[in-house]
Amino acid sequence: MKLTSLNDLFIHQMRDLYNAEQQLLKAMPDMMEKVSNKNLASVMKDHMKETENQVKRLEQCFEILGVSGKGEKCKAMEGIIKEAKEFMEHDADQEVMDAGIIACAQRLEHYEIAGYGTACTYAKFLGHDEVLNLLQEILSEEKKADEKLTFVAESAVNKKAERH
Ligand SMILES: [Fe+2]
Repeated sequence: MKLTSLNDLFIHQMRDLYNAEQQLLKAMPDMMEKVSNKNLASVMKDHMKETENQVKRLEQCFEILGVSGKGEKCKAMEGIIKEAKEFMEHDADQEVMDAGIIACAQRLEHYEIAGYGTACTYAKFLGHDEVLNLLQEILSEEKKADEKLTFVAESAVNKKAERH
């Protein structure tokens, strides 16, 4: 696809995000399986539900924009997930595994926050108001998920991991 305008770039970024969310949705059950801490498990479970909705919201965005959401493979998300999977193969104490999974999950969240932040800026600039609202909803969920992960890490997981 030749990119000739900011709108083309916007669509390109949206497709990248859409693919990233789909990859993430597939990878989440494996990550959740390795989690021991109950609070962490519930944060991740909630965020998986949110992610399912985010995929639907992005599909809504493509419908509004009148373009297909297909065509991009998010290599960065692929890499972050690969790293998470490799980490989870380690023989680790429960608390250390939990702390490591939080580290992986926060990398994912921060990547998404960066992507949605840019997409929101473009949507605003291009006057795609309806799409902007949907993207802002997603962005705020990502930020909250990141905060909850920080809270779980600071309140319990890291302390327990430190005791080993
Ligand atoms: Fe997401």
